[in-house]
Amino acid sequence: MQLPDFYLFTFVFLLLSFYFYLLSSARIIQAKLQSEMKLHELINTAKALVEDDKGLLAMDESNPTCNKRFALLGIPLTAEARRAYREMIVTTPGLSESISGAILYDETIRQQLKDGTSFIKAVKDAGIISGIKVDMGAKAMEDHPGEKLTEGLEGLHERLEEYARLGLRFAKWRAVITIGDGLPSMDCIEANADALASYAKLCQEAGLVPIVEPEVLMDGEHSLAECRNVTEDVLRIVFNHLYAKGVALEGMILKPNMVLPGLTCTKQESVEEVAEETVHCLMRIVPAEVTGIAFLSGGQSAELASARLNAMNVRFKSQLPWALSFSFARAIQQPALEIWKGMHANVEEAQKALYHRAKCNKAARRGEYNTGMERKSI
Ligand code: 13P
Repeated sequence: MQLPDFYLFTFVFLLLSFYFYLLSSARIIQAKLQSEMKLHELINTAKALVEDDKGLLAMDESNPTCNKRFALLGIPLTAEARRAYREMIVTTPGLSESISGAILYDETIRQQLKDGTSFIKAVKDAGIISGIKVDMGAKAMEDHPGEKLTEGLEGLHERLEEYARLGLRFAKWRAVITIGDGLPSMDCIEANADALASYAKLCQEAGLVPIVEPEVLMDGEHSLAECRNVTEDVLRIVFNHLYAKGVALEGMILKPNMVLPGLTCTKQESVEEVAEETVHCLMRIVPAEVTGIAFLSGGQSAELASARLNAMNVRFKSQLPWALSFSFARAIQQPALEIWKGMHANVEEAQKALYHRAKCNKAARRGEYNTGMERKSI
């Protein structure tokens, strides 16, 4: 090769190398920006779900669970009855004054109101953010009698992409932990925590805020101290898995149980004791980056759930890094369901009851709930 050719070759080689270097740097910067934007959106959604002292309305009962509740009231166990019930809920006037987000069920997002409006649009038009239950239910755990493992990871990535396309902005996955003779086992806690973290990571990749729900069940005779110890173990293990999978804690909501004595335990602590034990338990485990904690109601009466949430906020609100909110199903819906009973003529009264419970829980977030609110409107 002659000298000028050599210089030309070297020049072209250096030019091309520089071009490819710039190209790959631009791609890395673009990917980084995209992931920062995604995180920013997740954080905004998580914040919006706990803003203005509002909370979540869980209306995501699976068909078997919804049917079980309908059967007790003689309501037909049909897709049309479930549709009509949920139409009653989402068309409640003023619901968005207290409710920031509604957790829907897959059947519901494919149904319409009587006037043809899709549920997703109706919820959005009502000023409420739509979310969706994405687990496939808690199934008997192999080799662990009396324990359950929540399923639904298979195909979850594709389902989440579809939900994001349909405009849903958050998701929910519920794991259940039973307290009993020798229960829960470490295997059950670990397996459920691992699934919760995998689900949360997939949600964030799809741009949906994960609601992480490890529920220690109320059923049983166990004491409040036992519930506290199990809840603490469960939450610690769940957060270990969330860290290990790289879930952004600022872009998620934790949905735990309150620390309560078992339903049939002879000693039932006061509202203040429950509030103190619950918040102390959470303070020991839940990192400050988590945007919000939204309790499930778990079978407590509607009034007790409001009173306990209120007591937590009265005493601790000013000291906590995260919002203490609600994501109730039964504690918001049950009184309305019992009034509605499947009859169109009862819609207005049922909606008043639903509105009232939502309002009581918003007041509880502010530490302004009192039992006088119940007497006034019922
Ligand atoms: P409850 O408030 O009735 O416990 O329901 C909350 C929920 O979403 C259960 O997954």
